[in-house]
Amino acid sequence: MQPGNNTIALLGATGKTGRSVLRLLLEDGTHNLQIYVRSKQKLFGLFPQLSAASQNVKIYEGAISDLSVLISCLSGANTAIVTLGENENLRGISILQDSARNIVAAVEELRRRDSSFKKLRLVYLSSSSKNERFAAARPWLANWFIQTAFYYPYQDLAKAQDILLAAPSLLSVLLVQPPVLVEEPPSGSKLSTEHVNLACSYEDLGAAFVELACHDQYGDLKAIGVSSKGGNASLKYTPVIVSRIVFGFLTGYVPGFWALRQKLGLDSL
Ligand SMILES: NC(=O)c1ccc[n+]([C@@H]2O[C@H](COP(=O)([O-])OP(=O)(O)OC[C@H]3O[C@@H](n4cnc5c(N)ncnc54)[C@H](OP(=O)(O)O)[C@@H]3O)[C@@H](O)[C@H]2O)c1
Repeated sequence: MQPGNNTIALLGATGKTGRSVLRLLLEDGTHNLQIYVRSKQKLFGLFPQLSAASQNVKIYEGAISDLSVLISCLSGANTAIVTLGENENLRGISILQDSARNIVAAVEELRRRDSSFKKLRLVYLSSSSKNERFAAARPWLANWFIQTAFYYPYQDLAKAQDILLAAPSLLSVLLVQPPVLVEEPPSGSKLSTEHVNLACSYEDLGAAFVELACHDQYGDLKAIGVSSKGGNASLKYTPVIVSRIVFGFLTGYVPGFWALRQKLGLDSL
């Protein structure tokens, strides 16, 4: 892949992971970017420089269900970074399944239109909980609590991954699988297929996405763990993980808790 000839589509640029990816891609400045958002206003609030027209950055706004928006956003891209998602344990969430179905439909349409179509490389935000090796390395009870506290988002993610992996003639998928995500300064990204630390900062995750999306050497990789080099301090991260688990159980299984939480503006750590 030659910098400058590389067109990257980014879906989810307004999220915490996506904005870290976008900041680094804009700093790098060598790629053509095609960004999908559901609100340009939110994107411009985060990246005011994007409100001015640019030759290298195109923005596509709309509902994730709008196939024409996705087709335009993915058209001409050789790589797509997808950082869409939902962190809360909310019954019935389907953003990842819905977007996966539409990504497949959009790429199918692009293949139909272009006889020289090449598979799209999809660098996709997954989770270490969806990696059997990483999940098995956790104490059994801790793994049960984590899988149950985030049951609904993990279900959505599992279904989305099935949809994407069932289209190998259209997509070459790399699952990027971090442990608990935290907002803190970067300490360096650790990439490994063998092991993840307890935590990953959004900054380190963003840097890993850019590394994985922009270098051919990762082209055959199917799944990789990403964590922060400083992400193994158990005294620091155990309270964060326990707080998220408690909120996940209350949000998912106690009727009315989510509405109350939103009313009071309560956040887990
Ligand atoms: N939290 C953790 O500890 C953890 C650990 C491992 C993996 N993960 C994975 O990370 C994902 C969340 O990443 P994050 O923390 O970066 O999320 P985030 O900050 O909540 O961002 C989610 C992105 O998805 C977009 N989005 C959500 N619903 C949408 C919809 N219906 N239509 C269009 N766009 C939509 C959001 O757009 P708007 O900005 O417009 O809302 C935003 O750009 C989860 O799905 C989970 O699988 C999380």
